[in-house]
Amino acid sequence: MTRTNDQLMKKWMATMSLVAAAAAVVLHNAAVAAAKPQVPCLFLFGDSLIDPGNNNGRNTIAQVEFKPYGIDFLLGPTGRFSNGKTIADIVAELLGFEEYIPSFLEARGQQILRGVNYASAASGIRPETGYNWILYNFGARKLALVGAAPLGCIPFTLAISSTDGRCVEATNRASLMFNEQLKAKIDVFNADFPEATFTYIDGYNPINDVLTNPAAYGFQVNNKACCGLSSVICLPNDVVCSNRSEYVYWDFAHPSETTNILLARRVYEAEKPTDAYPYDLRRLALL
Ligand SMILES: *[C@@H]1O[C@H](CO)[C@@H](O)[C@H](O)[C@H]1NC(C)=O
Repeated sequence: MTRTNDQLMKKWMATMSLVAAAAAVVLHNAAVAAAKPQVPCLFLFGDSLIDPGNNNGRNTIAQVEFKPYGIDFLLGPTGRFSNGKTIADIVAELLGFEEYIPSFLEARGQQILRGVNYASAASGIRPETGYNWILYNFGARKLALVGAAPLGCIPFTLAISSTDGRCVEATNRASLMFNEQLKAKIDVFNADFPEATFTYIDGYNPINDVLTNPAAYGFQVNNKACCGLSSVICLPNDVVCSNRSEYVYWDFAHPSETTNILLARRVYEAEKPTDAYPYDLRRLALL
């Protein structure tokens, strides 16, 4: 490994510890242009899981505007941390938006009335990622808060911390604890902001179901990255697996597009009672 890659890896690992797994989706009910989508606009906050390229051009290792990222995306590498669409892209489609919600970096003029995606890899690099609550003051009335994934099962954790190849339980427990407390906050938020509706979306069980029984979903590999080493971000010219659809994970931490499609569907329409509390996005949009 070259010295540069080694330095990149170290820097990346330091950044990884900052990666928050929570994402917030804000459905905004402002009275804007005739709504073909199920909601007039969609504002997104989160980390690399739904970052559409907000870190591009910035001096950070949490930036992937290069091949093979985007290898299956219509626009090629855009800074999305997947081979194809992110969960946010698919959710926007399911909500009836004709275009993906633009990144904060690229949104211009009237576009912002349809929504903006503020998600930024390694959350917090961009100060705007913390501004979601301000939206309430501008009329946001439907807010979905997404819980953490089983981070003890991502290829990164398996490669770095697992001694027996199994998911690291302590890390998964941290995700579950975070989710429990986030879910408990929903009732508090709904009481404190009676004009708004908050809902909790489970980030844990939907992908855990896939990881537990990958074959049932058409996957062959649930513990390794399709692209590059599982311990670090996929780098330019890294080898890519021959069939992306067979891998749950595209890189060391981010699902493949095939996985993102399964997860986004379940975010939009709950399949199990634990998937959403009290509303999935489809029902939230209908309110
Ligand atoms: C890739 O894998 C998927 C899922 O197992 C399968 O349905 C598909 O046929 C495979 N494609 C190729 C080209 O082998």
